[in-house]
Amino acid sequence: MTEKRDSKKILVLLGSPRKKGNSTTLAEKIIAGAEAGGATVEKIYLHGRKISPCQACYACQKPDSKGCAIDDDMQPIYQKLIDADAWVIASPVYWFTMSAQTKLFMDRCFALPAYRKGAFKGKRIAVAMSYGDADPFISGCVNALRTFQDAFTYAGAKIVGMVYGSAEKPGEISSNQTLMKTAEALGQKLAKRLTH
Ligand SMILES: Cc1cc2nc3c(=O)[nH]c(=O)nc-3n(C[C@H](O)[C@H](O)[C@H](O)COP(=O)(O)O)c2cc1C
Repeated sequence: MTEKRDSKKILVLLGSPRKKGNSTTLAEKIIAGAEAGGATVEKIYLHGRKISPCQACYACQKPDSKGCAIDDDMQPIYQKLIDADAWVIASPVYWFTMSAQTKLFMDRCFALPAYRKGAFKGKRIAVAMSYGDADPFISGCVNALRTFQDAFTYAGAKIVGMVYGSAEKPGEISSNQTLMKTAEALGQKLAKRLTH
């Protein structure tokens, strides 16, 4: 195996309404690691974007589809998802799973292969999550982690790593030094791509 030296493009999707919240703080550490590893990073705050729920029209699943029939802020995101080598998805736990902002985004990803066949294949993904309870199972974090794992495995993408931890007040998670280091290391891992 040899390592490619070219810069990787990483797209970060932030699913918390808190701009300096805990899941974003975790994502920022992943970004720091990725940038230290030479990657270029773009962040998208999903909250405040006009991303409508999937309307199940199945237009995106037709053989000659041009993409999602809903004309909203998800449209430019499709191209960014295709152009990126890796994605970081960050979300708080809301009601025992990912936030609604994150779930809307996930549902709309159903249309991604209509823009580029095989768009998920080989895409490298990192997940960052925060929750209020002390336990990842009781908090419901594990439900969301399983959803990401099942969805992206089904779609042919590769989950490179998941970082998650307990915190309440915005940014409080940064006091968990071990977790911060794990997040940074995950960012560095994302910045590399091993070619076979
Ligand atoms: C609407 C709402 C629902 C929540 N539901 C849960 C939950 O089911 N389990 C849990 O452990 N924490 C829950 N929390 C707490 C958040 O997950 C926690 O504060 C997290 O660190 C917030 O992340 P953020 O700062 O990235 O937004 C909830 C918070 C809100 C506002």
